Amino acid sequence: MFKGLFQTKKKTPKAELALDLTDIDLNNVPKHIAIIMDGNGRWAKAQGKVRTFGHQAGAETLKTIVRAADKLGVKVISAYAFSTENWKRPVTEVNFIMELLSRYLTSEIEEFNENNVQVRFIGSREGLPEIVKEKMDNAIEATKNNTGIILNLAINYGGQAEILQAVKDIAAKIEAGSLNVEDITNDVFENHLYTKGLPAPDLLIRPGGDLRISNFLLWQIAYAEIWTTDVYWPDFSPEHLLQAVSAYQGRERRFGGLVNKK
Ligand code: IPE
Ligand code: IPE
Ligand code: MG
Repeated sequence: MFKGLFQTKKKTPKAELALDLTDIDLNNVPKHIAIIMDGNGRWAKAQGKVRTFGHQAGAETLKTIVRAADKLGVKVISAYAFSTENWKRPVTEVNFIMELLSRYLTSEIEEFNENNVQVRFIGSREGLPEIVKEKMDNAIEATKNNTGIILNLAINYGGQAEILQAVKDIAAKIEAGSLNVEDITNDVFENHLYTKGLPAPDLLIRPGGDLRISNFLLWQIAYAEIWTTDVYWPDFSPEHLLQAVSAYQGRERRFGGLVNKK
């Protein structure tokens, strides 16, 4: 059914990605960038096309942005692909996204390996189609030895669900006697989140013009710098990424403290 769309997928040769890094301080690149990939549907509608067309285009954008981020020296990209609330959408759209994910995770393995990209996932596996779970396992296994940028894909992800799950796991350990209440520190809590082992995002990017978090990485973005643009995700280019990083580099991160302690 979606064959035509997927057949038009073309591989972008690496050489096409020329980045102008004049405005970028390569010693102050965010280690972890979180992206709320929003605006796919509106992008498609604006061209008189169906919403799913925008999701297809958005998947292509992600590839380009991961490569650009890697070139910049970013270590982790967390990309919000499907939220725990996105099940509320029409079943045809949900099915299309699931199909797209499973195709993406098949067709991109070679490129991930060529570019040393390690794929990980955050979110709940509950409710995901078997085929998607299979492709996720396969992508993890196929890229686990890659040592380059980590592509952390948020699928059936919700920040509240993640926190609730951590609370339940911790409560169960307390009940079983393997953990004491007084030993619950930030580190212990973070070790119960899906993002265990990853640094917190330094920069959160939201394209699509909406100024909200939409349940993404609620705990982890405590001190992330936020950068938004009206540009829809399918139109988001490496130049926009550079704009975001450049803006990030102009920010003063205080973490509640003072920078000039006079
Ligand atoms: C983001 O784009 C992708 C998903 C949520 C799956 P949208 O589908 O939300 O596009 P808009 O925001 O309606 O334009
Ligand atoms: C956030 O976008 C989720 C993803 C990008 C996957 P939404 O389009 O679902 O968020 P809202 O509904 O505008 O808050
Ligand atoms: Mg949206």
